[in-house]
Amino acid sequence: MELRDKINELKDYLGQYERLEQAIGLIYWDMRTNIPNKAGESRSKVLEYLSGESFKMITSPKIEEFIKDLTPYKDEMNLTERRMLEELERNYNETKKIPEDKYVAYVGLCSNSELAWEKAKDASDFEIFKPYLEKVVEFQKEFINYWGYKDDKYDTLLDKYELGLTTEKLDKIFSELRDGIIEVLNKVKGSKKKLNRDFLYGHFDADKQKELSLYILDKIGFDMEAGRLDVSVHPFTTNFGNKDVRLTTNYHEDEFTSALFSTIHEGGHGIYEQNISDDLECTGLQAGASMAIHESQSRFYENILGRSKEFCSYLLPVAKKYFNDFKDVTLDEFYEAMNYVETSLIRTEADELTYGLHIIIRYEIEKELINGRISVDDLKDLWNKKYKEYLGIEPKNDSEGILQDMHWSDGSFGYFPSYALGNLYGAQMFHTLLNEKPNVMEEVKNGNLTEVTKWLNEKVHVHGAIYTPEELIKRITGEELNPKYFIDYLKNKYYKIYDVE
Ligand code: CO
Repeated sequence: MELRDKINELKDYLGQYERLEQAIGLIYWDMRTNIPNKAGESRSKVLEYLSGESFKMITSPKIEEFIKDLTPYKDEMNLTERRMLEELERNYNETKKIPEDKYVAYVGLCSNSELAWEKAKDASDFEIFKPYLEKVVEFQKEFINYWGYKDDKYDTLLDKYELGLTTEKLDKIFSELRDGIIEVLNKVKGSKKKLNRDFLYGHFDADKQKELSLYILDKIGFDMEAGRLDVSVHPFTTNFGNKDVRLTTNYHEDEFTSALFSTIHEGGHGIYEQNISDDLECTGLQAGASMAIHESQSRFYENILGRSKEFCSYLLPVAKKYFNDFKDVTLDEFYEAMNYVETSLIRTEADELTYGLHIIIRYEIEKELINGRISVDDLKDLWNKKYKEYLGIEPKNDSEGILQDMHWSDGSFGYFPSYALGNLYGAQMFHTLLNEKPNVMEEVKNGNLTEVTKWLNEKVHVHGAIYTPEELIKRITGEELNPKYFIDYLKNKYYKIYDVE
Protein backbone atom coordinates (compact mmCIF):
# COMPACT_ATOMS: atom_id res chain seq x y z
CA MET A 1 0.00 0.00 0.00
CA GLU A 2 1.23 3.45 -0.87
CA LEU A 3 0.68 5.70 2.15
CA ARG A 4 0.00 8.83 0.07
CA ASP A 5 -2.59 7.03 -2.05
CA LYS A 6 -4.38 5.73 1.00
CA ILE A 7 -4.43 9.17 2.63
CA ASN A 8 -5.82 10.71 -0.53
CA GLU A 9 -8.45 8.02 -0.68
CA LEU A 10 -9.45 8.84 2.90
CA LYS A 11 -9.56 12.55 2.10
CA ASP A 12 -11.85 11.86 -0.85
CA TYR A 13 -14.15 9.95 1.45
CA LEU A 14 -14.11 12.65 4.13
CA GLY A 15 -14.68 15.23 1.41
CA GLN A 16 -17.89 13.48 0.41
CA TYR A 17 -18.95 13.36 4.02
CA GLU A 18 -18.21 17.05 4.48
CA ARG A 19 -20.27 17.96 1.40
CA LEU A 20 -23.20 15.99 2.77
CA GLU A 21 -22.82 17.70 6.15
CA GLN A 22 -22.73 21.08 4.42
CA ALA A 23 -26.01 20.31 2.66
CA ILE A 24 -27.54 19.34 6.01
CA GLY A 25 -26.20 22.50 7.59
CA LEU A 26 -27.62 24.66 4.84
CA ILE A 27 -31.08 23.15 5.40
CA TYR A 28 -30.79 23.80 9.14
CA TRP A 29 -29.82 27.39 8.44
CA ASP A 30 -32.75 27.82 6.09
CA MET A 31 -35.15 26.34 8.66
CA ARG A 32 -34.07 28.87 11.24
CA THR A 33 -34.05 31.93 9.00
CA ASN A 34 -36.25 31.75 5.90
CA ILE A 35 -38.53 28.74 5.79
CA PRO A 36 -42.25 29.28 5.09
CA ASN A 37 -44.38 28.24 8.07
CA LYS A 38 -46.06 25.36 6.29
CA ALA A 39 -42.83 23.81 4.99
CA GLY A 40 -41.43 22.69 8.34
CA GLU A 41 -42.72 19.16 8.35
CA SER A 42 -41.64 18.15 4.86
CA ARG A 43 -38.24 19.77 5.34
CA SER A 44 -37.78 17.77 8.56
CA LYS A 45 -38.15 14.64 6.46
CA VAL A 46 -35.40 15.79 4.12
CA LEU A 47 -33.20 16.33 7.14
CA GLU A 48 -34.05 12.97 8.61
CA TYR A 49 -33.11 11.23 5.37
CA LEU A 50 -29.84 13.10 4.91
CA SER A 51 -28.87 12.64 8.56
CA GLY A 52 -29.39 8.90 8.16
CA GLU A 53 -27.07 8.90 5.14
CA SER A 54 -24.48 10.87 7.06
CA PHE A 55 -24.69 8.46 10.02
CA LYS A 56 -24.16 5.55 7.61
CA MET A 57 -21.10 7.20 6.09
CA ILE A 58 -19.39 7.86 9.39
CA THR A 59 -20.11 4.39 10.81
CA SER A 60 -19.37 2.53 7.59
CA PRO A 61 -16.99 -0.48 7.59
CA LYS A 62 -14.93 1.58 5.15
CA ILE A 63 -13.86 3.80 8.02
CA GLU A 64 -12.71 0.81 10.02
CA GLU A 65 -10.67 -0.27 7.03
CA PHE A 66 -9.04 3.15 6.72
CA ILE A 67 -8.13 3.08 10.40
CA LYS A 68 -6.71 -0.44 10.16
CA ASP A 69 -4.69 0.30 7.02
CA LEU A 70 -3.32 3.64 8.14
CA THR A 71 -2.52 3.08 11.81
CA PRO A 72 0.77 1.18 11.23
CA TYR A 73 2.09 4.21 9.26
CA LYS A 74 1.44 6.82 11.93
CA ASP A 75 5.15 7.58 12.35
CA GLU A 76 5.49 8.47 8.69
CA MET A 77 2.64 10.96 8.80
CA ASN A 78 2.78 14.70 9.35
CA LEU A 79 0.93 16.30 12.26
CA THR A 80 -2.25 17.04 10.31
CA GLU A 81 -2.48 13.52 8.95
CA ARG A 82 -1.90 12.00 12.34
CA ARG A 83 -4.55 14.17 13.97
CA MET A 84 -6.93 13.41 11.12
CA LEU A 85 -6.53 9.71 11.79
CA GLU A 86 -6.88 10.10 15.55
CA GLU A 87 -10.05 12.16 15.28
CA LEU A 88 -11.51 9.74 12.77
CA GLU A 89 -10.86 6.84 15.08
CA ARG A 90 -12.26 8.62 18.12
CA ASN A 91 -15.46 9.66 16.34
CA TYR A 92 -15.91 6.27 14.77
CA ASN A 93 -15.53 4.42 18.06
CA GLU A 94 -17.87 6.79 19.91
CA THR A 95 -20.57 6.68 17.27
CA LYS A 96 -20.27 2.95 16.76
CA LYS A 97 -20.91 2.22 20.41
CA ILE A 98 -24.51 3.41 20.15
CA PRO A 99 -26.80 0.88 18.41
CA GLU A 100 -28.36 2.44 15.32
CA ASP A 101 -31.97 1.86 16.46
CA LYS A 102 -31.22 3.63 19.74
CA TYR A 103 -29.70 6.54 17.87
CA VAL A 104 -32.69 6.90 15.56
CA ALA A 105 -35.15 6.67 18.48
CA TYR A 106 -33.17 9.32 20.31
CA VAL A 107 -33.15 11.72 17.35
CA GLY A 108 -36.93 11.31 17.13
CA LEU A 109 -37.35 11.90 20.85
CA CYS A 110 -35.23 15.05 20.70
CA SER A 111 -37.28 16.74 18.01
CA ASN A 112 -40.47 16.08 20.03
CA SER A 113 -38.75 17.16 23.18
CA GLU A 114 -37.66 20.44 21.59
CA LEU A 115 -41.26 21.14 20.59
CA ALA A 116 -42.49 20.27 24.08
CA TRP A 117 -39.89 22.61 25.55
CA GLU A 118 -41.07 25.44 23.31
CA LYS A 119 -44.68 24.85 24.32
CA ALA A 120 -43.77 24.58 27.99
CA LYS A 121 -41.74 27.76 27.82
CA ASP A 122 -44.60 29.68 26.20
CA ALA A 123 -47.00 28.41 28.83
CA SER A 124 -44.36 28.81 31.55
CA ASP A 125 -45.18 25.31 32.76
CA PHE A 126 -42.36 22.87 33.49
CA GLU A 127 -44.87 19.98 33.81
CA ILE A 128 -45.39 20.01 30.01
CA PHE A 129 -41.70 19.45 29.39
CA LYS A 130 -40.93 17.13 32.30
CA PRO A 131 -41.94 13.75 30.81
CA TYR A 132 -39.76 14.45 27.73
CA LEU A 133 -36.83 15.60 29.79
CA GLU A 134 -37.07 12.44 31.88
CA LYS A 135 -36.73 10.34 28.73
CA VAL A 136 -33.87 12.44 27.38
CA VAL A 137 -32.01 12.01 30.67
CA GLU A 138 -32.62 8.25 30.62
CA PHE A 139 -31.19 8.05 27.09
CA GLN A 140 -28.15 10.06 28.12
CA LYS A 141 -27.51 7.73 31.04
CA GLU A 142 -27.87 4.73 28.75
CA PHE A 143 -25.46 6.28 26.23
CA ILE A 144 -22.93 6.87 28.98
CA ASN A 145 -23.07 3.17 29.76
CA TYR A 146 -22.38 2.40 26.09
CA TRP A 147 -19.59 4.96 25.89
CA GLY A 148 -18.12 3.93 29.24
CA TYR A 149 -16.89 6.04 32.14
CA LYS A 150 -14.15 6.02 34.74
CA ASP A 151 -14.74 7.96 37.94
CA ASP A 152 -17.68 10.18 37.20
CA LYS A 153 -20.44 9.58 34.65
CA TYR A 154 -20.63 13.27 33.84
CA ASP A 155 -16.98 13.20 32.70
CA THR A 156 -18.03 11.24 29.64
CA LEU A 157 -20.32 14.10 28.57
CA LEU A 158 -17.83 16.86 29.39
CA ASP A 159 -15.25 15.12 27.26
CA LYS A 160 -17.53 15.36 24.21
CA TYR A 161 -17.35 19.15 24.20
CA GLU A 162 -13.93 19.65 25.75
CA LEU A 163 -11.56 16.77 25.18
CA GLY A 164 -9.88 15.72 28.40
CA LEU A 165 -12.05 17.80 30.72
CA THR A 166 -13.18 16.10 33.95
CA THR A 167 -15.37 17.07 36.89
CA GLU A 168 -12.27 16.85 39.06
CA LYS A 169 -10.57 19.60 37.03
CA LEU A 170 -13.73 21.61 36.56
CA ASP A 171 -14.72 21.54 40.25
CA LYS A 172 -11.43 23.22 41.02
CA ILE A 173 -11.66 25.76 38.19
CA PHE A 174 -15.26 26.67 38.93
CA SER A 175 -14.79 26.98 42.67
CA GLU A 176 -11.99 29.48 42.06
CA LEU A 177 -14.15 31.27 39.50
CA ARG A 178 -17.17 31.39 41.80
CA ASP A 179 -15.14 32.84 44.69
CA GLY A 180 -13.59 35.40 42.35
CA ILE A 181 -16.89 36.53 40.88
CA ILE A 182 -18.56 36.78 44.27
CA GLU A 183 -15.67 38.80 45.66
CA VAL A 184 -15.97 41.32 42.81
CA LEU A 185 -19.76 41.29 42.87
CA ASN A 186 -19.89 42.08 46.59
CA LYS A 187 -17.63 45.09 46.08
CA VAL A 188 -19.67 46.28 43.12
CA LYS A 189 -22.86 45.95 45.19
CA GLY A 190 -21.26 47.96 47.97
CA SER A 191 -20.16 50.75 45.63
CA LYS A 192 -21.69 54.19 46.13
CA LYS A 193 -21.30 54.93 42.45
CA LYS A 194 -24.51 54.58 40.46
CA LEU A 195 -24.13 53.99 36.74
CA ASN A 196 -26.59 55.33 34.20
CA ARG A 197 -27.68 53.36 31.16
CA ASP A 198 -31.03 55.01 30.46
CA PHE A 199 -29.80 56.30 27.11
CA LEU A 200 -29.43 52.73 25.83
CA TYR A 201 -33.22 52.45 25.86
CA GLY A 202 -35.52 54.36 23.51
CA HIS A 203 -36.27 53.88 19.85
CA PHE A 204 -33.53 52.48 17.61
CA ASP A 205 -34.63 51.89 14.05
CA ALA A 206 -33.94 48.29 12.99
CA ASP A 207 -32.64 49.28 9.53
CA LYS A 208 -30.15 51.64 11.06
CA GLN A 209 -29.11 48.99 13.57
CA LYS A 210 -28.51 46.64 10.69
CA GLU A 211 -26.37 49.19 8.89
CA LEU A 212 -24.33 49.74 12.03
CA SER A 213 -23.99 45.99 12.63
CA LEU A 214 -22.66 45.43 9.12
CA TYR A 215 -20.27 48.36 9.45
CA ILE A 216 -18.85 47.06 12.74
CA LEU A 217 -18.58 43.49 11.44
CA ASP A 218 -16.37 44.73 8.65
CA LYS A 219 -14.28 46.76 11.12
CA ILE A 220 -13.57 43.80 13.38
CA GLY A 221 -12.38 41.73 10.43
CA PHE A 222 -15.33 39.60 9.36
CA ASP A 223 -15.15 39.04 5.59
CA MET A 224 -18.56 39.80 4.04
CA GLU A 225 -17.37 38.26 0.76
CA ALA A 226 -17.24 34.94 2.60
CA GLY A 227 -20.27 35.34 4.80
CA ARG A 228 -23.59 37.01 5.51
CA LEU A 229 -25.68 38.44 8.31
CA ASP A 230 -29.37 37.55 8.67
CA VAL A 231 -32.03 37.63 11.35
CA SER A 232 -33.23 34.85 13.66
CA VAL A 233 -34.89 34.72 17.08
CA HIS A 234 -31.77 33.33 18.74
CA PRO A 235 -28.56 34.58 17.12
CA PHE A 236 -26.23 31.84 15.87
CA THR A 237 -23.36 31.12 13.48
CA THR A 238 -23.19 28.32 10.98
CA ASN A 239 -20.69 27.63 8.24
CA PHE A 240 -20.05 25.52 5.20
CA GLY A 241 -16.29 25.43 4.99
CA ASN A 242 -14.38 28.68 5.49
CA LYS A 243 -15.77 30.56 2.48
CA ASP A 244 -19.43 30.62 3.54
CA VAL A 245 -19.89 31.64 7.16
CA ARG A 246 -23.37 32.79 8.12
CA LEU A 247 -24.25 34.85 11.17
CA THR A 248 -27.60 35.90 12.52
CA THR A 249 -28.62 38.58 14.95
CA ASN A 250 -31.90 39.88 16.33
CA TYR A 251 -32.85 43.58 16.31
CA HIS A 252 -34.82 44.98 19.26
CA GLU A 253 -35.97 48.49 18.43
CA ASP A 254 -36.39 49.51 22.06
CA GLU A 255 -32.77 48.88 22.97
CA PHE A 256 -29.33 49.65 21.54
CA THR A 257 -26.85 47.00 22.68
CA SER A 258 -28.53 43.62 22.20
CA ALA A 259 -28.31 43.29 18.40
CA LEU A 260 -24.94 44.99 18.12
CA PHE A 261 -23.24 42.79 20.71
CA SER A 262 -24.94 39.65 19.40
CA THR A 263 -23.52 40.56 16.00
CA ILE A 264 -20.04 41.11 17.41
CA HIS A 265 -20.28 37.84 19.37
CA GLU A 266 -21.33 35.82 16.34
CA GLY A 267 -18.77 37.78 14.32
CA GLY A 268 -16.08 36.37 16.62
CA HIS A 269 -17.28 32.83 15.90
CA GLY A 270 -17.36 33.72 12.22
CA ILE A 271 -13.86 35.22 12.07
CA TYR A 272 -12.58 31.98 13.64
CA GLU A 273 -14.21 29.81 10.97
CA GLN A 274 -13.20 32.07 8.07
CA ASN A 275 -9.55 31.91 9.05
CA ILE A 276 -9.12 28.17 9.53
CA SER A 277 -6.52 26.98 7.04
CA ASP A 278 -7.63 25.82 3.57
CA ASP A 279 -5.23 22.91 4.03
CA LEU A 280 -7.59 21.36 6.56
CA GLU A 281 -10.37 20.82 4.04
CA CYS A 282 -11.45 17.16 3.86
CA THR A 283 -9.55 16.21 7.01
CA GLY A 284 -12.34 16.53 9.57
CA LEU A 285 -10.17 19.17 11.27
CA GLN A 286 -11.55 22.29 9.57
CA ALA A 287 -13.41 23.28 12.73
CA GLY A 288 -12.79 24.95 16.07
CA ALA A 289 -10.52 23.24 18.59
CA SER A 290 -13.49 22.83 20.95
CA MET A 291 -16.77 24.49 21.91
CA ALA A 292 -15.01 26.42 24.67
CA ILE A 293 -12.21 27.64 22.39
CA HIS A 294 -14.89 28.74 19.91
CA GLU A 295 -16.67 30.59 22.67
CA SER A 296 -13.38 32.15 23.74
CA GLN A 297 -13.19 33.85 20.35
CA SER A 298 -16.77 35.14 20.28
CA ARG A 299 -16.42 36.47 23.83
CA PHE A 300 -13.04 37.96 23.06
CA TYR A 301 -14.64 40.15 20.39
CA GLU A 302 -17.85 40.78 22.30
CA ASN A 303 -16.50 41.53 25.76
CA ILE A 304 -12.73 41.84 25.97
CA LEU A 305 -12.59 44.02 22.85
CA GLY A 306 -16.19 45.13 22.29
CA ARG A 307 -16.80 46.32 25.85
CA SER A 308 -13.30 47.73 26.38
CA LYS A 309 -12.86 51.43 26.96
CA GLU A 310 -10.69 51.60 23.85
CA PHE A 311 -13.34 50.13 21.59
CA CYS A 312 -16.06 52.23 23.22
CA SER A 313 -14.05 55.34 22.43
CA TYR A 314 -14.13 54.29 18.78
CA LEU A 315 -17.76 53.14 18.85
CA LEU A 316 -19.34 56.17 20.52
CA PRO A 317 -18.73 58.71 17.70
CA VAL A 318 -19.87 56.09 15.18
CA ALA A 319 -23.04 55.41 17.19
CA LYS A 320 -23.67 59.14 17.38
CA LYS A 321 -23.77 59.29 13.60
CA TYR A 322 -26.53 56.70 13.57
CA PHE A 323 -28.55 57.69 16.61
CA ASN A 324 -29.26 61.10 18.03
CA ASP A 325 -29.89 59.58 21.47
CA PHE A 326 -26.16 59.63 22.22
CA LYS A 327 -25.67 63.29 21.36
CA ASP A 328 -24.68 64.36 24.89
CA VAL A 329 -23.28 61.07 26.15
CA THR A 330 -19.62 61.13 27.27
CA LEU A 331 -17.14 58.30 26.77
CA ASP A 332 -17.14 57.43 30.47
CA GLU A 333 -20.92 57.27 30.55
CA PHE A 334 -21.01 55.15 27.41
CA TYR A 335 -18.33 52.76 28.63
CA GLU A 336 -19.96 52.40 32.04
CA ALA A 337 -23.39 51.77 30.53
CA MET A 338 -21.89 48.99 28.38
CA ASN A 339 -20.54 47.35 31.52
CA TYR A 340 -23.47 47.86 33.87
CA VAL A 341 -23.63 45.05 36.43
CA GLU A 342 -26.96 43.68 37.52
CA THR A 343 -27.76 40.25 38.94
CA SER A 344 -30.49 38.84 36.74
CA LEU A 345 -32.41 35.64 36.10
CA ILE A 346 -31.72 35.10 32.41
CA ARG A 347 -28.34 33.67 31.41
CA THR A 348 -28.28 35.13 27.90
CA GLU A 349 -28.92 38.62 29.24
CA ALA A 350 -26.37 38.41 32.04
CA ASP A 351 -23.47 40.85 32.21
CA GLU A 352 -19.87 39.76 31.81
CA LEU A 353 -19.28 39.64 35.57
CA THR A 354 -22.24 37.55 36.76
CA TYR A 355 -22.47 35.33 33.66
CA GLY A 356 -20.24 32.65 35.15
CA LEU A 357 -22.59 32.13 38.11
CA HIS A 358 -25.40 31.14 35.73
CA ILE A 359 -23.11 28.50 34.26
CA ILE A 360 -21.88 27.19 37.59
CA ILE A 361 -25.50 26.69 38.70
CA ARG A 362 -26.22 24.62 35.59
CA TYR A 363 -22.99 22.64 35.96
CA GLU A 364 -23.73 21.71 39.56
CA ILE A 365 -27.26 20.61 38.67
CA GLU A 366 -26.24 18.59 35.60
CA LYS A 367 -23.52 16.75 37.48
CA GLU A 368 -25.98 15.61 40.16
CA LEU A 369 -28.65 14.70 37.64
CA ILE A 370 -26.44 12.62 35.36
CA ASN A 371 -24.96 10.74 38.32
CA GLY A 372 -28.47 9.94 39.54
CA ARG A 373 -28.07 11.79 42.81
CA ILE A 374 -31.13 13.89 41.99
CA SER A 375 -34.05 13.30 39.62
CA VAL A 376 -35.89 15.48 37.12
CA ASP A 377 -38.51 15.99 39.84
CA ASP A 378 -35.97 17.85 41.97
CA LEU A 379 -34.75 20.18 39.23
CA LYS A 380 -37.08 23.11 39.62
CA ASP A 381 -36.68 23.55 43.36
CA LEU A 382 -32.95 23.09 43.16
CA TRP A 383 -32.71 25.62 40.34
CA ASN A 384 -34.63 28.23 42.30
CA LYS A 385 -32.66 27.54 45.45
CA LYS A 386 -29.33 27.97 43.68
CA TYR A 387 -30.39 31.23 42.04
CA LYS A 388 -31.35 32.53 45.45
CA GLU A 389 -28.04 31.39 46.89
CA TYR A 390 -25.67 32.59 44.15
CA LEU A 391 -27.47 35.58 42.67
CA GLY A 392 -29.85 36.57 45.44
CA ILE A 393 -32.92 36.43 43.23
CA GLU A 394 -35.57 33.84 42.55
CA PRO A 395 -37.53 33.17 39.35
CA LYS A 396 -41.19 34.08 39.58
CA ASN A 397 -42.16 31.51 36.97
CA ASP A 398 -40.74 28.50 35.06
CA SER A 399 -40.11 30.37 31.88
CA GLU A 400 -37.62 32.75 33.47
CA GLY A 401 -36.26 29.88 35.56
CA ILE A 402 -35.78 26.24 34.73
CA LEU A 403 -37.23 26.54 31.19
CA GLN A 404 -35.13 29.44 29.91
CA ASP A 405 -32.53 27.44 27.94
CA MET A 406 -33.24 24.91 25.23
CA HIS A 407 -30.03 22.90 25.80
CA TRP A 408 -31.56 20.11 27.88
CA SER A 409 -34.34 19.51 25.39
CA ASP A 410 -31.93 17.97 22.89
CA GLY A 411 -29.75 16.36 25.54
CA SER A 412 -26.82 18.79 25.37
CA PHE A 413 -25.69 17.96 28.90
CA GLY A 414 -22.06 18.89 29.44
CA TYR A 415 -22.25 21.81 27.02
CA PHE A 416 -22.91 24.71 29.42
CA PRO A 417 -19.43 24.75 30.99
CA SER A 418 -17.99 25.66 27.55
CA TYR A 419 -19.51 29.14 27.83
CA ALA A 420 -17.75 29.95 31.07
CA LEU A 421 -14.53 28.27 29.97
CA GLY A 422 -14.64 30.50 26.89
CA ASN A 423 -14.34 33.54 29.15
CA LEU A 424 -11.39 31.98 30.95
CA TYR A 425 -9.52 30.97 27.80
CA GLY A 426 -10.14 34.41 26.29
CA ALA A 427 -8.78 36.31 29.30
CA GLN A 428 -5.72 34.10 29.46
CA MET A 429 -5.02 34.71 25.77
CA PHE A 430 -5.58 38.44 26.26
CA HIS A 431 -2.98 38.47 29.03
CA THR A 432 -0.44 36.90 26.66
CA LEU A 433 -1.41 39.24 23.83
CA LEU A 434 -0.77 42.29 26.02
CA ASN A 435 2.61 40.89 27.05
CA GLU A 436 3.61 40.30 23.45
CA LYS A 437 2.10 43.51 22.05
CA PRO A 438 1.78 46.04 24.88
CA ASN A 439 0.36 48.81 22.66
CA VAL A 440 -2.18 46.76 20.77
CA MET A 441 -5.22 48.34 22.43
CA GLU A 442 -4.09 51.84 21.39
CA GLU A 443 -4.97 50.97 17.81
CA VAL A 444 -8.37 49.67 18.90
CA LYS A 445 -9.25 53.25 19.86
CA ASN A 446 -9.09 54.08 16.15
CA GLY A 447 -11.30 51.16 15.28
CA ASN A 448 -8.29 49.27 13.99
CA LEU A 449 -8.50 45.65 15.13
CA THR A 450 -6.15 44.33 12.47
CA GLU A 451 -3.28 43.60 14.87
CA VAL A 452 -5.51 41.80 17.36
CA THR A 453 -7.26 39.77 14.69
CA LYS A 454 -3.95 38.90 13.05
CA TRP A 455 -2.61 37.65 16.37
CA LEU A 456 -5.71 35.51 16.98
CA ASN A 457 -5.53 34.24 13.38
CA GLU A 458 -1.97 33.03 13.87
CA LYS A 459 -2.34 31.70 17.40
CA VAL A 460 -5.81 30.17 17.26
CA HIS A 461 -7.82 30.30 14.05
CA VAL A 462 -5.52 28.93 11.39
CA HIS A 463 -4.92 25.69 13.33
CA GLY A 464 -8.55 24.56 13.30
CA ALA A 465 -8.85 21.37 15.32
CA ILE A 466 -5.23 20.25 14.93
CA TYR A 467 -4.51 20.85 18.62
CA THR A 468 -6.63 19.81 21.56
CA PRO A 469 -7.81 22.76 23.70
CA GLU A 470 -5.25 21.76 26.32
CA GLU A 471 -2.41 21.78 23.80
CA LEU A 472 -3.58 25.00 22.21
CA ILE A 473 -3.76 27.10 25.38
CA LYS A 474 -0.33 25.81 26.43
CA ARG A 475 1.16 26.67 23.03
CA ILE A 476 -0.27 30.17 23.16
CA THR A 477 0.20 31.14 26.80
CA GLY A 478 2.80 28.67 28.08
CA GLU A 479 0.53 27.24 30.75
CA GLU A 480 -2.64 25.26 31.17
CA LEU A 481 -6.01 26.89 31.69
CA ASN A 482 -5.85 29.09 34.77
CA PRO A 483 -8.94 31.00 36.02
CA LYS A 484 -6.68 33.57 37.68
CA TYR A 485 -6.40 35.59 34.46
CA PHE A 486 -10.12 36.05 34.06
CA ILE A 487 -10.58 36.93 37.73
CA ASP A 488 -7.74 39.48 37.54
CA TYR A 489 -9.32 40.89 34.39
CA LEU A 490 -12.67 41.26 36.17
CA LYS A 491 -11.09 42.96 39.17
CA ASN A 492 -9.09 45.29 37.02
CA LYS A 493 -12.08 46.30 34.98
CA TYR A 494 -14.95 46.47 37.44
CA TYR A 495 -13.10 47.97 40.41
CA LYS A 496 -12.22 50.91 38.21
CA ILE A 497 -15.70 51.25 36.77
CA TYR A 498 -17.36 51.06 40.18
CA ASP A 499 -14.72 53.05 42.04
CA VAL A 500 -13.90 50.36 44.58
CA GLU A 501 -10.80 48.39 45.46
CO1 CO B 1 -21.36 31.78 21.18
